Amino acid sequence: MKITVINGTMRHGSTWHCKDLLLEKISQLEETQVREFYLPKDMTSFCSGCFSCFLNGENTCPHADQIQPIVAALEEADLVILTSSVYALDVTGQLKALLDHLCFMWLSHRPNPKMFNKVGISFATTAGAGLSHSTKTMENSLKFWGVKKRFASKQAVAAMKWSDISDKKRGQIDKDMAQLAKKATAAVANIEHSAGPLFRKIMFVMMKNMMKKNDWNPTDRNHWEAQGWLNGTKPF
Ligand SMILES: Cc1cc2nc3c(=O)[nH]c(=O)nc-3n(C[C@H](O)[C@H](O)[C@H](O)COP(=O)(O)O)c2cc1C
Repeated sequence: MKITVINGTMRHGSTWHCKDLLLEKISQLEETQVREFYLPKDMTSFCSGCFSCFLNGENTCPHADQIQPIVAALEEADLVILTSSVYALDVTGQLKALLDHLCFMWLSHRPNPKMFNKVGISFATTAGAGLSHSTKTMENSLKFWGVKKRFASKQAVAAMKWSDISDKKRGQIDKDMAQLAKKATAAVANIEHSAGPLFRKIMFVMMKNMMKKNDWNPTDRNHWEAQGWLNGTKPF
């Protein structure tokens, strides 16, 4: 299984350890090939809001040299894992900065068919609060990239560092990661045959109708046309 991990923190703290445990559990079930990115090391910029990705193509983003290798790794993966520590009840700023750069491939712009048959995990760790909000932020990107099957992992660790986590909690994390590893592995194996989300179907039809009338962004419209989606071809 090919796995791409976007680490929303550089810190080898609780998020990193939980994620590593998950990778270990998956590798016990099947052979894995893992590609990891660390933020902000691998994507150092904020979106400048220039609209160039939307209007002129993603290769014209001022930060394309850092964005393109990440997109290529997402395209290659069977399983995409987005991770974040909870900061201020949400994802880390560095993860949000990356997600902002990837709006061009949302269903509302130029969805990437290579993202459609994937499994995605939104993976958050907190001291106490903000898990649902944080996983929702990550989930929104997976959902709007058109990822077929999605899971969330929410860990409240009541600690500032991994070594402070109680033995009881560690036991629970171990069980949770084993269970998530099983579910994600089964989902990857079954991805071709599983039903896609209803949201994706509805969004696709809505956007198709909008793209037919799109006279404000030829780059988006041409993408839909080139895929054959404006002439009846269905991606899912
Ligand atoms: C800047 C910052 C903001 C934080 N905000 C929250 C928060 O809003 N709610 C919360 O429960 N914990 C908060 N925390 C605690 C972390 O979410 C928690 O310690 C988490 O396990 C850290 O993950 P890490 O060990 O992977 O760095 C914050 C920590 C930092 C450094």
